Amino acid sequence: MVAIRGSGLTSLGREPDPSSLVRAAVDRALSDAGLDVDAIDALVVANAAGEAFTSIGNVSVWTATEAGLAGTPAIRVDTGPSSGLAAVSTARGWLGAPGIDNVLVLGWEAMTSVPTEEATEILAGLMAADEREAGLSLPRLVACLTRAYLDRHDRSLAELDRVAHKAHRLAEANPIAQFGEVTLDEIAASRVVADPLRLMHCAPLTDGAAALVVADEGPVEIASMGAASDHLAYTQRRTPPERFQATQDAAEACFASTETERSDVDVVELHDAFVSLEAINLEDLGFVPDGEGLDHVAEPEADALGPSPAVNPSGGLKARGHPVGATGLAQTVECVDQCLDRAANPVADAGTALVHSIGGFGNNVHVALLEARP
Ligand code: COA
Repeated sequence: MVAIRGSGLTSLGREPDPSSLVRAAVDRALSDAGLDVDAIDALVVANAAGEAFTSIGNVSVWTATEAGLAGTPAIRVDTGPSSGLAAVSTARGWLGAPGIDNVLVLGWEAMTSVPTEEATEILAGLMAADEREAGLSLPRLVACLTRAYLDRHDRSLAELDRVAHKAHRLAEANPIAQFGEVTLDEIAASRVVADPLRLMHCAPLTDGAAALVVADEGPVEIASMGAASDHLAYTQRRTPPERFQATQDAAEACFASTETERSDVDVVELHDAFVSLEAINLEDLGFVPDGEGLDHVAEPEADALGPSPAVNPSGGLKARGHPVGATGLAQTVECVDQCLDRAANPVADAGTALVHSIGGFGNNVHVALLEARP
């Protein structure tokens, strides 16, 4: 068995000092696991763009040193915004090698130390060069995809507002979240970032860190994982413009190696970097039929957790925050907390949770299924 023995997450928001982020996440995960730092045999660091955001180089050794693990084997995993979940996959492979019993997986990103324009440029580095040179950015690409989705399925912008509203309502109860509740009017009146996407439809720039201790025993099992990539350029994709083949393939791979079915999943933490992605991902993961993702979002007056499976009870990337390299781990920490009945917005009787994390623009996708141990 590969299990999560302990987990920890910092507050997400504006705290651009990577040292304090790293130390806080490590302390929380070790304390949750009931271990001293000496018990850690290997470190996997998840970080997407530490050099560009913070000028820190040799990220694996820098992080090991800050974590009190100088001398311990350390590698860095960078698959862009899915680095955190890719790092869990790496730790899973490392576990069981001679002398490796406890692997610390530690993700961090400090994005607010640069102005927004610079951060947008750095994140655009995830895209194909010719698309970037044509003036596209991640928000602009997602705007194209969002328009295609709304047109194909005859959906309205007001329905996307509801997704943002739901995310902020859930984040309100989450003490580590970057944002709290906002009204539907505030969402609809927020400034246009990339038409039709408004500020309140986007995940923010976030500083934060998260850590897990992965071992062969623990209260939550990593029951299976799946991964897939796709062409770098959006224009070379095999699927319709509003679909992500890599999500479909990663989910298929994850479910193919377990007897767990989609109907067994109680909680999903998916990659809603822009609110339209919540619906699209839910469809690509196979939880709802094509075009019906927005029907899964609770009405404003209803319980924000909505129907089963509950989607992004943490508030999601949208409202909890999106420190890119750490995000897959922050999502995993939320799923662990749900399985252990200690989450801020608890989903009743949650025992099975799915984490979905996207790397670049719809590629390098990782999916994990977590199950509470009896
Ligand atoms: N959602 C809600 N509120 C947000 C927000 C967001 N995404 N981003 C910023 N805010 C708030 C700020 O807290 C601030 O509030 P205040 O005035 O009460 O302090 C206000 O809006 C203005 O913030 P500011 O930092 O000036 O916004 P910005 O224009 O610099 O950045 C975006 C806004 C949307 C451009 C930026 O958050 C962004 O680029 N998001 C996308 C990140 C991304 O692509 N990630 C990778 C995806 S995989």
